[in-house]
Amino acid sequence: MKPITLLIAAFIASGTTAQFNNPLAIPPALDLDTFDLVVDEHVHQFYPGVNTNTYGASAEYLGPTLILHRGDSARIRIHNELAQVTSMHWHGMHVPGEMDGGPPREVLPGESWFARFMVKNPAATYWYHPHPHELTAEQANFGLAGFIIVQDEDEAALDLPRTYGVDDFPAVVQDRKFQPNGDFAFYPFGDSVLVNGTPNAYLQCPAQVVRLRLLNGSNARIYALGLDNGQVFNVIAGDGGLLPSPVSTDRLWLSNGERAEVLLDFTGMEGDSLLLMSHGSELPQTVPGSGNILWESSALNGIDFPVMRIRVVAPTADPVTAIPANLFTHVAPDEAESVQTRTKNITGTGMVGMGMFMINGLMFDLNVVNDTVQLGSVEVWNVVNNSNMAHPMHIHGVSFFILERNLQPPPAWEQGPKDVVLVDRWEVVKLIMRFTEPTDGWPFMYHCHNLLHEDNMMMLQYAVVDPNMSISRANDQDGMNIFPIPTTGSLSWTSDEAVQEVGLLDPAGRAVRRHFVPSTKQGMLDLAGLPSGTYTLILFHGSGRAHAKVVVD
Ligand code: C2O
Ligand code: CU
Ligand code: CU
Repeated sequence: MKPITLLIAAFIASGTTAQFNNPLAIPPALDLDTFDLVVDEHVHQFYPGVNTNTYGASAEYLGPTLILHRGDSARIRIHNELAQVTSMHWHGMHVPGEMDGGPPREVLPGESWFARFMVKNPAATYWYHPHPHELTAEQANFGLAGFIIVQDEDEAALDLPRTYGVDDFPAVVQDRKFQPNGDFAFYPFGDSVLVNGTPNAYLQCPAQVVRLRLLNGSNARIYALGLDNGQVFNVIAGDGGLLPSPVSTDRLWLSNGERAEVLLDFTGMEGDSLLLMSHGSELPQTVPGSGNILWESSALNGIDFPVMRIRVVAPTADPVTAIPANLFTHVAPDEAESVQTRTKNITGTGMVGMGMFMINGLMFDLNVVNDTVQLGSVEVWNVVNNSNMAHPMHIHGVSFFILERNLQPPPAWEQGPKDVVLVDRWEVVKLIMRFTEPTDGWPFMYHCHNLLHEDNMMMLQYAVVDPNMSISRANDQDGMNIFPIPTTGSLSWTSDEAVQEVGLLDPAGRAVRRHFVPSTKQGMLDLAGLPSGTYTLILFHGSGRAHAKVVVD
């Protein structure tokens, strides 16, 4: 054991003296009709000669970048070769609840899940990661995560770098703590910085305008990114889409789960070498990654440290040489359209890893839907943080716009569509969003994206219900029949298409019955004992789902 311990110590030390000699790994980009991801255990050498047990999605660590096209359908098959349950969530994507891959959508060991959805999101950088109940942090820590890049015509019309791995680079930043035996420790903070799984990474960038797609894939650490030569980032996109025009800034905070696309102008800089830094010394004491001595300790907390080196090399044959003046404007819903304002009050006092934090005094319960919203409606959510630290709050199934941070408009790079927002202690953040995806018994989560807080129940659920569903529509258009009407006790159904799953939702959108059926065109549902009210019967089949209203009285 001794030599290995020394070896790791030596490599970690080299990280802080900026010997960045490992070429940055670029995950392969796949542009396929159907993606197959095998989630499995692996052994990977982050440091030469040191074996680390990892999980990966068809890779030793992390997974391939999935290229999706707006307007097309996406088909992704997940096969679980782990010894434990997993799930796979398309973070930021607007998909129906049944395809969202949250904790209810378990993929058992040895089993598969086939996710199919229309790509509705605008061009931006999204990602996928597992989301099983109480195991998200652990599985992500072992290495399960990957990029999703959505392309669309609006983005294609702009003169932007978009040759993957040449002038357009993904970069997921993660901190990891290595144990003396080479394995990862499961700890809120790490003292080794990995970019795309590469420690001490350098990236060769051509001397022209290049694009970095940055993702904070860390469990808890928040980064205050900057370049050591004083050069600015030109932020062109946030979590869920392009900004109206590039925003230049010399500091970019990235909280857990957040993405930013930035343009860096290296024109005429061939031969230069610079460092992408994180300025931990600038983070307030309430932000994980600052030097708050009350928290779990880490050699990187509270200090400025390099994330990776950038070496500027010869330009390509057909370089992008200018930062475009205008990009694309995504318009936030009008506040006058909002039908409801909800307040989400965060409380609790705790550590970065061991925190017990609540939203409106509640903690996660898989069997409780905490909010029910109407399909197509606009709502305003005020997130108020009365706890002792900052939390990166994330909402599934939508992109939101930040209307206000503490009564002020947010900084310009936060003004596009987003799905994660860092809410510091005593901050009030006002969000607006339109709910366009139905949950049909598979509720969406909203939670803190500090993965340890999330697994520690800092998560609630909401349902999106369609108020306009009627039985006539079901009979006429959805290819289903239910009988007898009226009925006592049980209900029969038939369907034109083979059905894989049957659900019955109560008026709040909670699934009170859910049955997986072996591809059948008829079945029966037991209604005995249900309180009276208007329920929704859903038949899920290969290409979609059929609804019918069922009145129990
Ligand atoms: Cu990125 Cu609920 O997750
Ligand atoms: Cu998500
Ligand atoms: Cu949190």
